[in-house]
Amino acid sequence: NYYAILMAGGVGSRFWPVSTQDYPKQFHDMLGTGDTLIQKTFHRLSQLIPQENIFILTNEKYNNLVLEQLPEVKQRQVVLEPAMRNTAPCILYASLKIQKENPNAVTIVAPSDHWIEDEKAFINNVEESFEFCAKNDALITLGIQPTFPNTGYGYIEFDKTTTQSIKPVNQFREKPDYQTAKSFISQGNFLWNAGIFMWSVESVISAFKNNQPELFELFQKGYAYYNTKKEYDFILENYAKAENISVDYAVMEKSENVFVLPATFDWNDLGTWGSLYDKLEKDTNNNAVVNAKTLVNEASGNMIRSNKDKIVVVDGLNDYIIVDKDEVLLIFPKAKEQNIKQVLQNVKDTF
Ligand code: GDD
Ligand code: MG
Repeated sequence: NYYAILMAGGVGSRFWPVSTQDYPKQFHDMLGTGDTLIQKTFHRLSQLIPQENIFILTNEKYNNLVLEQLPEVKQRQVVLEPAMRNTAPCILYASLKIQKENPNAVTIVAPSDHWIEDEKAFINNVEESFEFCAKNDALITLGIQPTFPNTGYGYIEFDKTTTQSIKPVNQFREKPDYQTAKSFISQGNFLWNAGIFMWSVESVISAFKNNQPELFELFQKGYAYYNTKKEYDFILENYAKAENISVDYAVMEKSENVFVLPATFDWNDLGTWGSLYDKLEKDTNNNAVVNAKTLVNEASGNMIRSNKDKIVVVDGLNDYIIVDKDEVLLIFPKAKEQNIKQVLQNVKDTF
């Protein structure tokens, strides 16, 4: 009864110029290990979940990339979205499809672009959660020990009186402002949301029904068509009507039956060049290099990436992102990496 919903519809714009709208980061070998992030994620999940039960949710324009990179996957496992509506609509839609196939399904919903090295610990955490949600009406998320008031994450306040590993959640707060994040962290019983969820399809569908009745009605209307030839016509006509909202705001913040399992593995959501830099091996001057042959002198702390093993010479430059990709060369201070999204927009507007 184990299933997976792999979310692979994001654009990863802070990884420009490698990640682009036509070829987002989950389809790139970001770590320089020979496989792409989605391939790594798929194989990590296959250790626990039968491959034919792993569904990939993505925009229709990435259908071919998914099939090319995951030859094990059949077209029925690729759930296509004709419009970008964030994570809530696609999770509800895929959950209804899976429920129709197997009403007792227990599902993990996972991003396709995270860094998790300790696969054994990850699988143990997922298995423990699966056993719990097979027996309980529970929405489980994996929690990460926070290290600073990051405002890009969800925060989870857990019940500190319990000695159980899977803990009841008092409140789930998506992307609080800086002051709130700071006060959460100082309280000690807050974790970051890793964005990896586990629940029975029954529980998640009833959470949508209770908290997002309009979204539920919209996708429930197509139930008779799911897993038949008429499904895509229904989706083409209706998907764009869905509200653009993430599962965190739509369901996690509003539900009373949320639980958290503090993850026992090291995690990084590879959100920016800097977070990738943190996870890569460094040369003796602390430069991280992917797909390049480098000659460096008086240069440290740089994130350097090229393609086709180009020779890159760097002298007198510290803590920069240096990325060479086809027609674009980016040289940008690591400290300002959050601005890359905006820079990409400026580039689009200008050229
Ligand atoms: N299929 C599909 N369709 N996938 C999507 C879509 C969509 O429309 N939008 C986003 N995704 C995928 C992204 O590719 C990513 O893998 C995942 O869903 C999460 O989306 P993000 O846009 O990266 O979310 P976030 O980083 O702002 O916040 C989430 O993740 C944080 C941890 O990384 C939240 O769950 C936070 O609470 C959490 O802390
Ligand atoms: Mg993210």
